[in-house]
Amino acid sequence: MKGIILAAGAGTRLYPASQPISKILLSIYDKPMIYYPISTLMLAGIRDILIITNEADYDNFRKLLGDGSNFGLNIEYKIQYVQRGIADAFLIGEDFINGDDVALILGDNIFHGHGFSTIMHDAIQNNIGATVFGYTVKDPERFGVVEFDSNKKVLSLEEKPKHPKSDYAVTGLYFYDGNVCDYAKMLKPSARGELEITDLNKIYLEKGTLKVEILGRGFAWLDTGTHDSMLQASNFVQSMELNKGEKIACLEEVAYLNGFLSGETILKNIEGYKSDYYDYVRNVILKSMTGVRV
Ligand code: DAU
Repeated sequence: MKGIILAAGAGTRLYPASQPISKILLSIYDKPMIYYPISTLMLAGIRDILIITNEADYDNFRKLLGDGSNFGLNIEYKIQYVQRGIADAFLIGEDFINGDDVALILGDNIFHGHGFSTIMHDAIQNNIGATVFGYTVKDPERFGVVEFDSNKKVLSLEEKPKHPKSDYAVTGLYFYDGNVCDYAKMLKPSARGELEITDLNKIYLEKGTLKVEILGRGFAWLDTGTHDSMLQASNFVQSMELNKGEKIACLEEVAYLNGFLSGETILKNIEGYKSDYYDYVRNVILKSMTGVRV
């Protein structure tokens, strides 16, 4: 399976903070926001990743992540010149996807919870067309909303409904089969002029091949679209990391634990880098390789 991260938003709601640089490159606590969706894809076992950026930030993303080899990944980049909607990712990414199954994650979505890797591996294994994740929120009208019957069968999907039929938002992580590019080509722009991801999911729903997995109470899903939600996400990550002494979304650590890169390679890659983040990487790897905390 391949992965796409959509990170082309102009972030105008965060101006002036995101005027010189993409919101997705701003920090959530101790690392750039994009580290979180990258780690999500890595935890799903995905190593071939396309990052879709806007024109202005293309070089910045490349400077940060390069070809992905420092994390045991193959990262490619494409530009979305006009914000035509989330489903546009499958028109821009068609050559990259090349008929394979693909996961899409929005660059400003942060997921964290026990067993998430297993949940995603199971979702991929059992996918019959499209699999999306539902999460209860207090303001469903801001999201795509899924309605279930009493047996948790999906009845409807609506994008930002004025009168939501449930409290279940559809999160910004989607798994699709190899038909997704053909279906994306069938979409027409919505009233707000976008190729809607919800309309794409509706095609799968109509064909009876959409699954919605529920992410339960013990799970954190954060959509970092405002200053408040960014601060909230930073506070969340800080509190988790300080309590446990373990980092969330440390890409080198995930690469090591997944067996994407050896400890020696990672230590060599980060030689000379001094910061809390890289000291943590060194410590975790040396401890695992030698059993000694340094
Ligand atoms: O976060 C989950 C929600 O994401 C879903 O529940 C909704 O169904 C889905 O439409 C989307 O809603 P948003 O209101 O969050 O979408 P937004 O337009 O804010 O775009 C999400 C991210 O994707 C944002 O970082 C900007 C980026 N983006 C968006 C569009 C439309 C692009 O890079 N290119 C685009 O063309």
